Parts: sequence; C-alpha cells; structure tokens
Amino acid sequence: MTDAAPAQYKGPQRVFSGMQPTNGLHLGNYLGALKNWVALQEKFAECIYCVVDLHAITLEPDPQTLAARSREVAAAYIAAGVDPKKSIVFVQSAVREHTELTWVFNCVARMGWVERMTQFKDKAGKHEERVSVGLFDYPVLMAADVLVYKATHVPVGEDQKQHLELARDIAQKFNNDFNTPDFFPLPEPLIQGPGARIMSLRDGSKKMSKSDPSDMTRINMVDDADTILQKIKKATTDPNPLPESAEGLKGRPEVENLVGIYAATAGKTADEVLKEFGGKGFGVFKPALADVLASQLGPIAAEMRRLNADPGALDAILRDGAERAQAIAAPIMAEVRDVVGFWR
Ligand code: TYM
Repeated sequence: MTDAAPAQYKGPQRVFSGMQPTNGLHLGNYLGALKNWVALQEKFAECIYCVVDLHAITLEPDPQTLAARSREVAAAYIAAGVDPKKSIVFVQSAVREHTELTWVFNCVARMGWVERMTQFKDKAGKHEERVSVGLFDYPVLMAADVLVYKATHVPVGEDQKQHLELARDIAQKFNNDFNTPDFFPLPEPLIQGPGARIMSLRDGSKKMSKSDPSDMTRINMVDDADTILQKIKKATTDPNPLPESAEGLKGRPEVENLVGIYAATAGKTADEVLKEFGGKGFGVFKPALADVLASQLGPIAAEMRRLNADPGALDAILRDGAERAQAIAAPIMAEVRDVVGFWR
C-alpha cells in the first residue's frame, strides 16, 4: 500500500465525493460525510459532489425510482449546505467518462487487490457466486470517479477507507505501468472527527446503515423531532452514568456512539461533551442529544421538502453540474486515451 501524500503532484487541489441514491440518507451519511463536504467548500476552490447512481445498480436495481432518488439525494446535499453554484453537484451516469476510465482501471487493478475488499465480502455474504460482476467491480468504479477529475482529497466515512487505499494503488500502478509519473495524484482520504464512524443505535458493534431492517437502529435525515426523541430514548445504553472524560468510554461502545453523535452534531470533542454531561444519567443526556439532533436536522429536512417539490429546478442544477463536471473530466480522459495508446 502506498502511504505518501500527493507530494510531487503539481496539479490543482480538488475535492471529490459521492453517495449512493439508495433509500433515504441517515445520520451516518450526514455526520460521516455530508457535514464535512459543506465545510470543505471554504477550504478548497473546487469541490465536486456526485450522486453515484451507477453504483446504485450493483444491487437490486429499481428503474422506477432511481432517477427520483438521485434527485432526492442531490436535494439533501443542497439542503445541508452544499452550494451548487460554488461546488459541482451532478449525477454520475450523466458523465460517461466515469465508465470509460473504469474499463482502463479494470485492466490496471489486480484481482487479488479487489478480492481483499471487505465491503464486497459483507455485501455478497454467502452468495458470492450469484452477485453481479458490478458489485465486485464497485471499488474500481469508485477509483475512476475520483481520478477522472484528478481529485486530491476525498471526504468520506471510515467505512470507505479501504476503497480509497485501492484507488491510491490503482493511481500508482497506472503511473508506473504507463511510465507517466505523477499523472494521477494519490488521492488523500479525509476521514474526520467523531462522526467518521456512526454506529447502530441498537448495537454498538454494527455501523448505522440503510440496509439494517430495523428503522430504530438509525436516525434518518428526514425524521421529525418526535421520531428522533423516540429512537434516542430507546437506544441501547447501560445503567451507569456518563463518564467524566473520553477515556471512560472504552468498553462502552453504545455510550461512546451517542457521545460521538452529540460531539459531531454540536461541533465539539467527546471530552467537551463529557465536561458538560459527565456524572449525569441518560435521563438527562438522551433528551439533550435528541434536541441537538432535531435542531440541526429539522431545517435541513424542511429545505429538502422544499427542493423536492420542484424537480424541474433540481434537474436544471444537475444538468449544469454535469456540464461543468464533464468539462473537467473530458480533457483528462483524452489524456488517458493518449497515454494508453488508443487509436484516434
Ligand atoms: P454510501 O452511499 O454508502 O455512503 C455515503 C457516505 O456516508 C458515509 N457513511 C458513514 N459515515 C459514518 N458512519 C456511518 N455509519 C456511515 N455510513 C455511511 C460513507 O463513508 C460515505 O462517505 N462508495 C461510496 C460512494 C462513492 C464514493 C465515490 C465516495 C462512490 N464513488 C468516490 C467517495 C469517492 C458509498 O457507498 O457511499
């Protein structure tokens, strides 16, 4: 595995990230990724935020709802604070260079590298022989997403770390194989803060996920204040009061998770949260947590509803985003074609 920052890479700094348009987004998506995306707009001149619908068809495609869900996820980005004038917001399948570069990367990545991906093993479960080739190839498409823009920074949750290591390996091998040092940057994962790994409200060893059959395990971005309170009240904890410092969270994963959620939502560290709540019981902490969540998610959900009521306006934003994305990707893909030696 490569570990150096993209030190020699001389190109512009660029942020890229994406989310799948599957079901609704949840608190893990928001605190692990989206909230950081919004902040990064202040630090980077170019941020590209994609709705990854090509990834969404790797498991149970649903042509009836896919386009609508892509719009909804774009609405969530914007409602959370992504500014579509400053940042590029678009749907992956609208920019064909993603799939074109994936093919080239399929011929760079090694089977052994992709076979090691734990998310594939988790998603395929016992049915490895019967899942789509696309599900296996998922992380190679993800590498192409990032590198077709020569993006240097990728803000994601902890669960995407291994995929980004693969993207760095693919970039490095492409640069070596085609004798084009520094053609692709080695993209840097930005996995930040207490929100990077939000766990299930019912089981501190499982990540919060849209695929969990129980809705009580997660807070959805569109949950209202009442639902949030009910879910937080029923979240698994233990009978002891909160510890005085983050050190005391060891061995209490469910408590650590709730404190992490509070910290990430309020923009504090776990220690700061525990300075306020250390020694107090969950009867005090849980309603305070539900309150912080509802006051942050409430306005976002209201804005999502407003945006979703006007699909035409969303489509105009997404078309403009796709054009701007393609204006970056097309010349890079043309360079790749030359490097690989395709006829032209
Ligand atoms: P997806 O759609 O599963 O998740 C979107 C983002 O949310 C983060 N996330 C979490 N963070 C903290 N705690 C959780 N419980 C949690 N659950 C999800 C994910 O880490 C992710 O950042 N493969 C990606 C989408 C993708 C992509 C890319 C990302 C496609 N191409 C290129 C970056 C760059 C995915 O499945 O995300």
